[in-house]
Amino acid sequence: MEDTNYKIKVIDPDPIAEQIRAKVSFAPRLGIVLGSGLGGLADEVEVVARIPYSELEGFPQSTVEGHKGEYIFGYLGDVPLVLMNGRVHYYEGYTMQEVVTPVRVMARLGADTIILTNAAGGLNESYHPGTLMCIESVISTFVPSPLIGPNDDKLGVRFPEMSEVFDPKLRALLHKVADEAGIELEDGVYLQITGPAYETPPESRLFAALGADAVGMSTACEVIALRHMGIRLLGLSCITDLAINNENTNTTHEEIQKIANEAGRRLITLVKGVVAQM
Ligand code: HPA
Repeated sequence: MEDTNYKIKVIDPDPIAEQIRAKVSFAPRLGIVLGSGLGGLADEVEVVARIPYSELEGFPQSTVEGHKGEYIFGYLGDVPLVLMNGRVHYYEGYTMQEVVTPVRVMARLGADTIILTNAAGGLNESYHPGTLMCIESVISTFVPSPLIGPNDDKLGVRFPEMSEVFDPKLRALLHKVADEAGIELEDGVYLQITGPAYETPPESRLFAALGADAVGMSTACEVIALRHMGIRLLGLSCITDLAINNENTNTTHEEIQKIANEAGRRLITLVKGVVAQM
């Protein structure tokens, strides 16, 4: 680990997990990352403690105003969980090591299952604003790997296997919950770009041709870091806009917000249903 030949600054999640344990005595079994516009799930949680990221030494601090972020500890039903309300993104200037540190900390706190949520642009022509997508797999090829650098053997192996990154049983449960609630749910591949610029139309066509159904600026790197640790994953995207063939450009920002809010409520129903039956 302490090899000075490496230029990558390695971050050990354990000292951060220790700081959290010193503040709250709570053992989460589940972690949930709340994507933008999906913070409403926090209202459903019986909160035990909140820890702003700003109180944690060595933690990547978001510079973006209104993006401060905090861990929320509590219960959803009878499941003890930790929520990440706000994440940091590669486009903000963090290293990939920094970007995945918050999710690694949740895993080191004991969450052996993590649900990743995000807002994403739709590439599949059958999608529309408001489509919910169960993430089948990811394309992380367009962003640097968070595993570049010395391998931390305590977290996982040097060459982790990635053939089935999302848990088939959890995905099946998500579909069962969606069917029971009468909520439409697609299955698709999520592709991560660095951002902050949105994809150009030729890039959208390229990504769709490569097999991606949705594009966003988070999540795939978290998938790589968490599967490295052997964490059981479920992923859900809320399609907020169409990144491809979007000829309907007269949609107003208010309409998009409305769609995102309404879709966010359906997404929260699904996550609650899965957690109740997990
Ligand atoms: N691209 C990247 N990220 C996004 C998009 C998009 O089109 N929509 C929402 N998040």
